[in-house]
Amino acid sequence: MTKRRLLPLTLLASLLLMGACGDNIKDTHPQQLVSKRQAAFKQLTKALEPMGLVARERKDYNKSEFQAQALELQELSSKPWGFFTVDGNYPPTRAKPGVWLDAAGFKQAQDSYLVKVEQLVKVSGSADMNVIRSTVDAVEKSCKGCHDQFRNER
Ligand code: HEC
Repeated sequence: MTKRRLLPLTLLASLLLMGACGDNIKDTHPQQLVSKRQAAFKQLTKALEPMGLVARERKDYNKSEFQAQALELQELSSKPWGFFTVDGNYPPTRAKPGVWLDAAGFKQAQDSYLVKVEQLVKVSGSADMNVIRSTVDAVEKSCKGCHDQFRNER
């Protein structure tokens, strides 16, 4: 903290300006809907990552560990959607307007994703790497499929 005060004023000013755009727009909603759903999605990324490593054979498959990871992903996968309420479309969201304009399509994308996660839970105890790989792949594709349709690029 004290270090900050030692920064030359111009540098400090430019840091503050940088903070004023892009990623750092404040979530002013009283329920912090955007922040909460973004945090929930980050948890999905974190939960999926170790399974992605196993699928790409960069990490050994361990049955009980992998099963627990799949279950954790399933549990976390129920979280983001409740934060997309009708009053939830405001900056700094990256969600496309389609989330609200095509609510049925967005719901369908959630459901088809959740089916893939369910399949991953089902096969998580199989030591068959081909099955593991294709099922993790299907989950990842499902994340991406929804993003292509409903999330803006940065
Ligand atoms: C049904 C649609 C859908 C599915 C499925 C989905 N996402 Fe997303 N994701 C979104 C939308 C919409 C946003 C933008 C949220 C916002 O900014 O308001 C988002 C945002 C994110 C973000 C950015 C969070 C941030 O801090 O800006 C990450 C990371 C992410 N998703 C990861 C994942 C992963 C990993 C999966 C699969 C395990 C996944 N998502 C599945 C729709 C989806």
